[in-house]
Amino acid sequence: MKIKGCVALVTGANRGIGRGFVRVLLERGASRVYATAREASNLPSVVDLDPSRVTGFVLDIDDGARRRAVAKQTRDTSLLINNAGIAGSEDENQRRFLRAANLDDARQVMETDCFSPIEMCRLYLPNMVKRGKGGVINILSIGALFCLPSHASYCAAKAAQAIMTMGLRADLDGTGVDIAGVYTGGVRTRMSAANTATLISPQTHAQQVFDAFEAGEKHIFAGARASEIRDAILANPGSFEQAQIERFRNPDRAWG
Ligand SMILES: NC(=O)c1ccc[n+]([C@@H]2O[C@H](COP(=O)([O-])OP(=O)(O)OC[C@H]3O[C@@H](n4cnc5c(N)ncnc54)[C@H](OP(=O)(O)O)[C@@H]3O)[C@@H](O)[C@H]2O)c1
Repeated sequence: MKIKGCVALVTGANRGIGRGFVRVLLERGASRVYATAREASNLPSVVDLDPSRVTGFVLDIDDGARRRAVAKQTRDTSLLINNAGIAGSEDENQRRFLRAANLDDARQVMETDCFSPIEMCRLYLPNMVKRGKGGVINILSIGALFCLPSHASYCAAKAAQAIMTMGLRADLDGTGVDIAGVYTGGVRTRMSAANTATLISPQTHAQQVFDAFEAGEKHIFAGARASEIRDAILANPGSFEQAQIERFRNPDRAWG
């Protein structure tokens, strides 16, 4: 599908990759952008990018009642971009399965990074199917293809979302509605702050994603080193995994 003329909804649009999507949607001629953020105070700065085309909504994607209320007001969405996501607890001990007091952090990451975006798809896709056109872009991570030892829940949630995206694609076969998963590599945002030098900007990432989506790609590799990492995993999964374990033995060097 084409970005020009679309009505797009972006989750987590207030900063980082989500804000980059809003900017590039506007540049590429989207007719309307529904920018959603979980804090109302974060909306004005994104609506101000173009108040005539951007409408803000408060949406915590984990809140089912809010999801349904926002969906009712944005029924004409033709492109859903599931971008909002979390990396897990700031306390690394809570992200390590054998050190954590319980699996609460892992469950929260699964909710936000897997079930909530799929619930969003379930709300928006039926209208697109009725119209016989539309699209969904699910922002996964290149981490959906391997385990970053310090972020195993995050990688597991993104991997689960990747497979669920494929399940939805099978259900959408022949409907005229496209769904793509984006295996995002490094993008300069708050989430990736530890490794800024080698990363690309959120706008460049959005351009790469839209170019690929408009070309009909279903598995999109965008952001720094995404394709390179994919190729290294495919070449030798065992040695790639061992290299990650060694890399994360020293957390200070892990992101270098
Ligand atoms: N940056 C990278 O290198 C990279 C690599 C691979 C994948 N990704 C993926 O790209 C997406 C965006 O990440 P980012 O790098 O832009 O990170 P970010 O700067 O941390 O932004 C995350 C966004 O998600 C929002 N969010 C988190 N939980 C939410 C919830 N429950 N409901 C609604 N919004 C929520 C945040 O809202 P608040 O401002 O309210 O916290 C924020 O707008 C994520 O899915 C991430 O996994 C990023």
